[in-house]
Amino acid sequence: MRWIAKPIVSVVVAVLAYQITLRYLKDTYKSHDPQFAIERTFLESWIDYRSNGWGLDVYGPISKKGRNMGKSGDPLGWIIIDSVDTMMLMHNKTKDDTHRKRFAEEINIAESWIKNTLDYNVDSEVNLFETTIRMLGGLLSSYYCSETYHIGNSTVYLEKAIDLADRLVPSFLQSETGIPYSSINLASGKAIKNHADNGASSTAEFTTLQMELKYLSYITGNTTYWKLCEKVYDPLYRNNNLVGRHYQGLIPIFTNPDTGVFQGSIIRFGSRGDSFYEYLLKQNLLTGEVLYRKLYDFSMDSMKRHLLGESKGQLHLKYIGEKDYGLAGPTSSKFDHLVCFMGGLLAMGATNGKPYSEAANGPDWNPTKQNDWELAEDLTKSCYEMYHQIPSGLSPEIVVFNSNYPNAEPNWWRSESEDYFVKPFDKHNIQRPETVESLMFLYHLSGNEQYRHWGWEIFSNFIKHTKVIKVAADGEEKVAYTSLHNVISLPTDKADNLESFWLAETLKYLYLLFDDDVELSKIVFNTEAHPFPVFNQSRLNELNLTTGWKL
Ligand SMILES: *[C@@H]1O[C@H](CO)[C@@H](O)[C@H](O)[C@H]1NC(C)=O
Ligand SMILES: *[C@@H]1O[C@H](CO)[C@@H](O)[C@H](O)[C@H]1NC(C)=O
Ligand SMILES: *[C@@H]1O[C@H](CO)[C@@H](O)[C@H](O)[C@H]1NC(C)=O
Ligand SMILES: *[C@@H]1O[C@H](CO)[C@@H](O)[C@H](O)[C@H]1NC(C)=O
Ligand SMILES: *[C@@H]1O[C@H](CO)[C@@H](O)[C@H](O)[C@H]1NC(C)=O
Repeated sequence: MRWIAKPIVSVVVAVLAYQITLRYLKDTYKSHDPQFAIERTFLESWIDYRSNGWGLDVYGPISKKGRNMGKSGDPLGWIIIDSVDTMMLMHNKTKDDTHRKRFAEEINIAESWIKNTLDYNVDSEVNLFETTIRMLGGLLSSYYCSETYHIGNSTVYLEKAIDLADRLVPSFLQSETGIPYSSINLASGKAIKNHADNGASSTAEFTTLQMELKYLSYITGNTTYWKLCEKVYDPLYRNNNLVGRHYQGLIPIFTNPDTGVFQGSIIRFGSRGDSFYEYLLKQNLLTGEVLYRKLYDFSMDSMKRHLLGESKGQLHLKYIGEKDYGLAGPTSSKFDHLVCFMGGLLAMGATNGKPYSEAANGPDWNPTKQNDWELAEDLTKSCYEMYHQIPSGLSPEIVVFNSNYPNAEPNWWRSESEDYFVKPFDKHNIQRPETVESLMFLYHLSGNEQYRHWGWEIFSNFIKHTKVIKVAADGEEKVAYTSLHNVISLPTDKADNLESFWLAETLKYLYLLFDDDVELSKIVFNTEAHPFPVFNQSRLNELNLTTGWKL
């Protein structure tokens, strides 16, 4: 019988191989309706919040409990306002009538709450930066999306935005330099210094308010917002000689708001440093102001010379390192997931939002732009590997790339390719957006399908690991999505926390990754993924809105 066994084995092997291949092929985004799946996830997550945590700023999807941000206990609309424009976008683009009806109802509920319940006369201090990017940014983009997609009442959002902005802008008038303190009381208008870090303001925080306030000036014609928010740059650049030899356009993460002088010497593209660079480029893209483009190019050139590294594992992954002791000190290979926005930013800087094939054949293309583009691709690949090699397929909050500094300790988790490590306290995942953000930009600018495959893999892992299902007494399944304590040990350990950027950014960028109709040269996303339209230059001229400072 031995003569018959061999062909049977080969047939069995062939059939198995065929089935495995088929299964693998089937599991790409092409065998699904990605936008439908993302809409469903958004609705599940939102409806869990609306049913169990409605109105609360902070919400736990497991305990179904939450609280408000302000010490007074009044709500700021944290999750609601951050979510509205994503619903308007999905309402406009969905191909499913049931989903469209659901979105219309939910937008209506959110809008009524904003109009009738939300009152910003709150006697509590709020963080100026977070409130600006999430609440003011969310109201302004809801205004824009309401007008563009003909859904809801745009006046509701604009009136709230003006009310909130008028409570925030006294921040710029309470220090000698015009650099705001980190918090402000929304009722009294009193600015409050950071309670830690010797009262320093985070450098990226007061340089990430400008898109929102400039857009408000552009809409309303009230030039005060524009003039106040741009005042931070002159002391920042002049008092530190920021383009001089000592800093070369790379900022320490803390600034003394009373003197405008940097405090400490930690330079990084992660928290408190990141969006300073982002808003230099995005102000140029949004308003056309040339000075910010020059400052952005200057900083990127220095970043490449001082902070760029390549891991020593099998994949040679590029990363942007950190300097804890100033530019002259050593470069650490610690890399926050937050830095993953840089792939998309560099790609937008190189192409100005045009497809790469068009931009690279245009008259403005040069070796620097080519280099920025390639770095954008390389960094996005590094960030993808931060998901792909992790047992859950979801990135930890921070990795350390394999380099000589710092050296890996025995208790650090090692990636299979030996390109990065994860420290014990950095294993959590709060459903952050930055990697899928870069995938969205890189896909639309390059047309390379690989970015959609990576995005689908990440989305699938969010579904697999961050979804929690509770069966109610009547047998109905209640679905929610939550953060994770640990992405490395399986099954993943769930945390009881919903970040508003899961709805505002992560699901929006994933949705747009799979949308065929995205024009990146016409809109600019603020740092919380709220889209604003590129300004009309004739209107800017009519309003006399120009750059009010020089270097
Ligand atoms: C989506 O928005 C466009 C305008 O941006 C509009 O023409 C179209 O009718 C909208 N579609 C739906 C279904 O609301
Ligand atoms: C839109 O909202 C504004 C502000 O609340 C209100 O004055 C106006 O009547 C509303 N418009 C419509 C058509 O409901
Ligand atoms: C413009 O905005 C400023 C800042 O909030 C405010 O004080 C001023 O009253 C506004 N001007 C007009 C004409 O509304
Ligand atoms: C730009 O603004 C000018 C002046 O307000 C207006 O006449 C023109 O129609 C606008 N152009 C576009 C494309 O909206
Ligand atoms: C803009 O400046 C011009 C010339 O300086 C002036 O005539 C005009 O009134 C200004 N417009 C506004 C809206 O301030």
